[in-house]
Amino acid sequence: MASYHAGNRDSFASSFGVLMALVGSAIGLGNLWRFPYLAGVNGGAAFIIIYIAFVFIICLPIMLAEFVVGRRSHANTYGAFSVLAPGSRWSMIGIITVAAASIILAFYSVVGGWTADYLVSALIFNLPESNATSAFFREVTTSPVRPQLFTALFLVLTAGVLMTGIKNGIEKYSKILMPILFIVVIIIAVRSVSLPGAGSGIEFLFKPDFSKVTGTTILEALGQAFFSSSIGIGTILTYASYVNKQENIISTSFLTSLSNVIFALIAGVAIMPAVFAFGLSPEEGPGLAFTTLPQVFDQLPGGGLIAILFFFMMLVAALTSSISLLEVPVTYLVEEFKLPRKAAVAIAFTLCLVMAMFCSLYEAVFNFCDSLTANYLMPIGALLLVIFVGWRMKKADVEDELSNSCSLPYPRWLYDTIYYLLRYLAPVVIVVVLLYGLLS
Ligand code: PFF
Repeated sequence: MASYHAGNRDSFASSFGVLMALVGSAIGLGNLWRFPYLAGVNGGAAFIIIYIAFVFIICLPIMLAEFVVGRRSHANTYGAFSVLAPGSRWSMIGIITVAAASIILAFYSVVGGWTADYLVSALIFNLPESNATSAFFREVTTSPVRPQLFTALFLVLTAGVLMTGIKNGIEKYSKILMPILFIVVIIIAVRSVSLPGAGSGIEFLFKPDFSKVTGTTILEALGQAFFSSSIGIGTILTYASYVNKQENIISTSFLTSLSNVIFALIAGVAIMPAVFAFGLSPEEGPGLAFTTLPQVFDQLPGGGLIAILFFFMMLVAALTSSISLLEVPVTYLVEEFKLPRKAAVAIAFTLCLVMAMFCSLYEAVFNFCDSLTANYLMPIGALLLVIFVGWRMKKADVEDELSNSCSLPYPRWLYDTIYYLLRYLAPVVIVVVLLYGLLS
């Protein structure tokens, strides 16, 4: 199997590096601007419990399935299936994932660009006053050239990290940036809960209200769990292909999911109490991060500094996610077209840049890319993947990979549980998500 590649393949050098890279992929804009709002309006702790259950019962097994395929083959998302199922059509999954990752990156980097713009404005103390935040947001997002420039800048930063490879690029930066990210979110959360009136924000976020839990909210929780775990489009598979055989992939995946959930909760505590303390009402997505929070920063004593920390945090969270997205087409180009890494990065960067420009210029394209990936490509990719691992691969091979050839100290039932969740529960749940996307 190792003969799929000529020469030395790059790899992660340490367990901590692998974990930080995966956590970097998982923690992103989704945790910061979607999770806190979703939790708040959908019944607080009631929603959070459902979300956490999905992360660990559905998404964690799917993450492990990506690990099994990626690490067993040590190949890109296309090549992995040629290695594990030679001569079959399963490699088509690779094409879907390369397309999906590139399309997600296209709209994700537009928001990354806005974030970079806000960070620059915060650094030069040029964020708007409370009554002008909406006008400022319009300027950042719709004025000619400005959003395109910042989107390009964001993609240049992403590609810059990838130029230097896995060990000396992704791993090196993740190991530095992710711990900083946790420290920053904790600082902001402490400041936020210490404000007078913070209690109603905590209540909004955590007070359980099971009457708000409907079929739609359950599906929202599931969609958020999927997007947040970065599964279904080959990012985990690609990172896993650079992980060595000694790594304990069960504990790495578990810790990734756990860190992701913990970060989302702390992000909620960093944001909502401050919003409520100033008598504002929370919104979802761009509105929350780019118009509501700047009002908070304007009124908060020392808010200028908190604004810098906040947009820095958001930029880092977005960057480490976009890095994992761009690596999917890059590894594919390197291995399937035998390109030098730098050339592959340049090509993938250019393609994504062109798509990102369209997303930046036309809101309809942005929304189309978002719904195409969230409602179709991600679930289809995940479904094919779990069918491959649960039904096409031999159970013994799956277990061999999960257990590092039986050298890990876990009991039998754990492997069986993971396998059966993958084989039966995950496909059913994904089909439900797909149908929901089709019907709504
Ligand atoms: N998990 C990231 C977030 O929550 O913002 C987004 C993401 C990154 C989705 C990488 C998919 C992916 F492959």
